[in-house]
Amino acid sequence: MGASDHLQGSIQILDRLGTRRAQDEAAERAALLAGLRNTPASLSPKYFYDELGCALYGAICRLPEYYPTRTEIALFQQYRAEIAQAIGSGKQFVDLGAGDCCKAESWLPFLAPSRYVAVDIAGPEITRALTRMAQEFPGVPMLGVLTDFSRTLDLDEALTKEPVTFFYPGSSIGNFTPDEACAFLRQVQALCAVRPGSGLLIGVDSKKDKARLDAAYDDALGVTAAFNLNVLLHVNRVLGSDFDVRGFRHRGFYNAEAGRVEMHLEATRAQSVCLDGVARPFAAGERIHTENSYKYLAEEFASLLCSAGFADLSHWQAPGPDYTVFYARP
Ligand SMILES: C[S@@+](CC[C@H](N)C(=O)[O-])C[C@H]1O[C@@H](n2cnc3c(N)ncnc32)[C@H](O)[C@@H]1O
Repeated sequence: MGASDHLQGSIQILDRLGTRRAQDEAAERAALLAGLRNTPASLSPKYFYDELGCALYGAICRLPEYYPTRTEIALFQQYRAEIAQAIGSGKQFVDLGAGDCCKAESWLPFLAPSRYVAVDIAGPEITRALTRMAQEFPGVPMLGVLTDFSRTLDLDEALTKEPVTFFYPGSSIGNFTPDEACAFLRQVQALCAVRPGSGLLIGVDSKKDKARLDAAYDDALGVTAAFNLNVLLHVNRVLGSDFDVRGFRHRGFYNAEAGRVEMHLEATRAQSVCLDGVARPFAAGERIHTENSYKYLAEEFASLLCSAGFADLSHWQAPGPDYTVFYARP
């Protein structure tokens, strides 16, 4: 183990974020500042997931309007045996963007993995979840990999030579542009290709009626608004900036032409924010683009998987079709 890695009970944590911070903090900070100074301003959705952001995401998943989580879980339950048979058992199970690990938890009894690897940028969330998982599955070695996979999926050290089942649920792939998604899937494919018997189980939300998508990302209780606005508090901690949360409002809507839901924070009044000692004026109505969530027809996503080098695809669909789960092999 390296200096930034540690053992916590029976759980091992590989902290690639600590290594990154040490090597590269200035570049991370510069990228965040550059996005916020741009017109239009933007930031990476990876900044959503501080402690409060993870809790708010958990609350979003329980909202009546937010159908993707419920739909995906229902698909997993309905086709559990068939999907488990396609995947096989006894492989490494690698959960990308694992969060609270609840979705993976439901698969462990059916896949009997040789080890469970939870990959995420949110350290405290992963450590908490793995502590729970280790008690429930004492026979399964647990590894947490704290990393930012938006740059590179650096898992060589974390994986053994055994076959791997990658698990990427929640339609999180939609946070990448289609080109970025293809590049990310290529990295997963490459890790699969050198470990025969490997594959990717991935959930993908479909293009659909604008009213349903608008409601899913702008709920009546305002939980998604709180999730979006909370990113400003996180950015204030990272940059030492002075964003006033009350000076912005949440915007979340489906852009049918682009095939994606967009989330923005819109200035409610003209104001100035101090970014690294330099004032950044925001006009009333000016927006910070905080997230895209691309939606795919099943055939569009199948074609993306093929472009990334996956050749053998199976899929399961929710009525609508609202949502698709793919199992893809090289
Ligand atoms: C939408 S949540 C999905 C959580 C869970 N897999 C589910 O389906 O309910 C996205 C997860 O990906 C993690 N994440 C976001 N950006 C990341 C990045 N660049 N690198 C690693 N993890 C990231 C977040 O911390 C969060 O736990």
